[in-house]
This record gives sequence, C-alpha cells and structure tokens, in this order.
Amino acid sequence: MAVKPAEPPLGMLAELTHRCPLHCSYCSNPIELVTRERELDTGQWLSVLSQARELGVLQVHLSGGEPLARPDLPELVSHASELGCYVNLVTSGLGLTEKRLDDLADRGLAHIQLSVQGADAERADRLAGTRAHEHKLTAAALIKRAGLPLSVNVVLHKQNHDQLAGIIALAERMGADRLELANTQYYGWALKNRTALMPTREQLAAAEPVVRAATERLRGAMEVIYVVADYYEPYPKPCMYGWGARQLTVAPDGDVLPCPAATAITTLELDNVTRKPLHDIWYRSSSFNAYRGEDWMSETCRSCDRRGADHGGCRCQAFLLTGDAAATDPVCSRSPDRELVDLILAAPPPAVEPELVMRRVAR
Ligand code: SF4
Ligand code: FES
Repeated sequence: MAVKPAEPPLGMLAELTHRCPLHCSYCSNPIELVTRERELDTGQWLSVLSQARELGVLQVHLSGGEPLARPDLPELVSHASELGCYVNLVTSGLGLTEKRLDDLADRGLAHIQLSVQGADAERADRLAGTRAHEHKLTAAALIKRAGLPLSVNVVLHKQNHDQLAGIIALAERMGADRLELANTQYYGWALKNRTALMPTREQLAAAEPVVRAATERLRGAMEVIYVVADYYEPYPKPCMYGWGARQLTVAPDGDVLPCPAATAITTLELDNVTRKPLHDIWYRSSSFNAYRGEDWMSETCRSCDRRGADHGGCRCQAFLLTGDAAATDPVCSRSPDRELVDLILAAPPPAVEPELVMRRVAR
C-alpha cells in the first residue's frame, strides 16, 4: 500500500504549563506532570510558535494546566497573533482579571474556552477540589464584556450527569457561544478514577433527550456539542481525526506529541523541540509516523469499511486497554478485544461508591 505523504498540521495545542489551581479527578494530563523548572522558557515558546506557523499551523490553543500561570502569556499571545494565527486560550478562569483580559484581547487573543465543573458552586467546587465556581462566573462576565467569543467546556461523568440541564442553563446565563459537553475520556489521571467517574447507562439515556432538546432550542444562539461516552458505543470515535493528521501537541517541557494523551503509550519514542526542529518531528519522527495512514492497522481495521471514518479509533485507548497501540480500539464491536470493555461495563456497582482521587498539582 502506498503511504500518503502527511499534510501540514492545522492546529497546535501548546501546553504552556502543567501547573493548575484546580484538582479535577477527570484530568487527562499524564500522571507524571512536568514541574516548573522543566518548562520551556519564553524564548523557546516563541520559537515553537514561529516554527509551528512556518509548518502551516493556523490555530494555536494555549492550554495547560492553567496557561494564566505563565507570566509571559501576553508575549506569547502577541507573537502567535502577529504570525497570523487564530489564538484560543483554554482556561479555568482562575487568575483572569479585567486588566489581564483586556491586555490579552488587545494583543490579538481571539477566543476563550472556559471550563465549568457543575451547575452550582457547591457541586462544582467539590469537583474542582477548590473554590472556583464564583471565579468562573466572574470570568465569563469579563469575557463577554470584552466582546470575545466564549466556549464553555464541561467534562461529564457520574458525579455531574444529574446536573446536565442546570449546566446548560448556566452556559446560557454565561452567554456562551458554544457549549461542549464531553463525557470523560479515560487517559492520564482520569483512568485512576474510572469506576467513580463512569456514568451509568441510565444517566446516558436520560442525557440524550436533554441534549437534543437544548440543541434544537438554542440553534443559532449557542452551539451545543455532545461528546459521547465511547465505552458504551458500538464504534470508536475518530480520535484526532487520525494520528498525526491535523494537530500536534507540545508539552510544557517541549516534548512533541501526536495527541495530547500520547505519553500514555510508553512504547512511543517522543522527540523534543529543544533538540529537533518541529518540521522534522511532524514529517519524519517515528512517533508521528507510527500510526499515520492505514499500514499499521490490524487486519480487522484494514479490511473494514469504516476505517476512513474512524481511522481505527484511539491509539491511546488501544494501548491502555490491550498493551498494543496498533490494536483495533477495544471500544469497537468488531475488535477481538471488545470483551475488555464489556467486562468493565458489566462490573457490578461497588457496594460503597469509591472516593474521587483528586489531581495532585505540578509545582
Ligand atoms: Fe473502525 Fe477498525 Fe472498528 Fe472498523 S474495525 S469500525 S475501522 S475500529
Ligand atoms: Fe491519543 Fe486517542 S487520545 S490517539
């Protein structure tokens, strides 16, 4: 089979730091976080941004941890925007003041994604492991006052599915242009909490009409995106729209990842932007080429009519559940490993609900 040459990337997720004021149990960042001393410095991030633009990147997502923890954030926003990139800030909202926001907007920040943990302060603060909800309400008001587009991001799980209608109402009150309701994906820290976070079949069934009604009612005012709980689905998600196809992630220490969760695949040899140009990593590294195209696929996927739609599913999930990153995603009903997922779903509910293990933070 001829290997199709890789297209240039469209987007870059720049994880500026793993430091974060929140302690979310569903965090998909790796178990081992990068400490402050190992973070790229300002000059290195400026170079990463320039290299990314040269490579073709048009959308830059400044993320973390909490990107507002980096004092050089304004400089990085200016640089990315001057390069002609659409700059998105992915934030908890903690640390966002009117002054900082106005400054970032003046420097070309184009969009903000604000995370929300629940519909009210009591629940949301419990899930964030800190008092955060009030700050988010203030942050949303500031973002709207600054005239920036606002996306509200909510990770859904067993502990907040019952608040779905309230969460949608909250996003409306915040004036969100877009609401992403994403069921938890089990990578990194979230995998530790899978039993405590996995929604029940009943919760998912109850969510469906609520999301459908909101999508209809809010059409034209607020876009509602729902990311399904893939363990319950018959086919996997088209993770990353294919490995090394559209986006790259740069971790706080400069490791370049084909997907944000790729450190989970311990067999992958990662390159670092302090040692190799981004261009070489995107086109020539073993990590980016490992699961590009279809040559790596098992016969199950290679002969399947859905392979163009889902690209064989998620490599990280395949590795975490089977130990082989080239396996068909076990979520797939055609996978020889689907039983692994069915056994997880069929496990009897624990006699005592497990405690959430809250995220420990990077220093
Ligand atoms: Fe997708 Fe592979 Fe399953 Fe086919 S067999 S649906 S390509 S994961
Ligand atoms: Fe890494 Fe799906 S999360 S490929």
